[in-house]
Amino acid sequence: MTTLTPSKPELIDLHPPAADMLRLVRQGLQQEPRQLPAWFLYDAEGSRLFDQICEQPEYSLTRTEIGLLEHSAAEIAAALGAGVIVEFGAGSARKVGTLLNALQPSAYVALDISADHLRQATADLQTRHPSVPMLGICCDHSALTALPEHPLLQGQRRIGFFPGSSLGNFTRPEAVALLRRFRQLLNGGPLLLGLDQPKTPERLEAAYNDAAGVSAAFARNLLHRLNSELGATFDPERFHYDALWQAAEHRVRMALVSQEPQSVSIAGECWQFAAGQPLVTEYSVKYTPAMARDLAAEAGWCWRQRWHDPADDLSLHWLDAAD
Ligand code: AVI
Repeated sequence: MTTLTPSKPELIDLHPPAADMLRLVRQGLQQEPRQLPAWFLYDAEGSRLFDQICEQPEYSLTRTEIGLLEHSAAEIAAALGAGVIVEFGAGSARKVGTLLNALQPSAYVALDISADHLRQATADLQTRHPSVPMLGICCDHSALTALPEHPLLQGQRRIGFFPGSSLGNFTRPEAVALLRRFRQLLNGGPLLLGLDQPKTPERLEAAYNDAAGVSAAFARNLLHRLNSELGATFDPERFHYDALWQAAEHRVRMALVSQEPQSVSIAGECWQFAAGQPLVTEYSVKYTPAMARDLAAEAGWCWRQRWHDPADDLSLHWLDAAD
């Protein structure tokens, strides 16, 4: 009897350039309200805290999406058809397993900005799915015009996967640009897009401000990051964490609110914060099915179908390249 020994997934490193953090901080602090790019939240400690958020009882998004994928995997696989699965911003790639089982793709290709995450995630996944050939591509997918040439992609239909409602952390123009970019990278193949939906303000504000304080620690970690990487002098405890549902914008606004007038030095520059002044750490837009259809159309996609959980809290949308 022969046993299948999983091979080590290959990694293509396109060496995405490091962002100019100081320039982005200056730019963000000049906005009204002040706002920093949401991806600043994800250094090693921030990624660890985000994993903890996903386990908080108030934050059901991750559990709901995994449950939905498990429940509807066969139907989704039949709808999406055969090909290679391309996951954007794969991170720890914890959601794609069900899809790999149901769809039996010709290969799995994970894109992420962190080479370390990719190595770990594809190696872990490969042990659980030894028969699926895997490839990691370290890149900034928003700046890519084509996927690199590789035998696993050659001549294969591409099926995009972007779960976790990550699109909700982008502004409307950014979300449209990203969906257009995915369309280009997928060469006419479909996209499975996970989007969280509006709920009561109480539920949403609790989801983003859990009783254990993990969401607050996640936001404050951003200030610790600015202190260590830019030599800033933030005292995170002098900022109060707040998560607020902004109904008109269909989004949760997460902010660190200055508790008192204070000045902070960042790379030698002095920034004043008034009492009550917010520093927005991220927005999380919640898409109704109608909003999702509208967004897809604006980005040149043809909306086909959605699968949702029994409470209709979250949807997996199937988009096809419109012609
Ligand atoms: C990654 N993203 C989809 C999360 C969300 O729900 O918007 C980020 C998050 N921030 C705080 N809690 C979760």
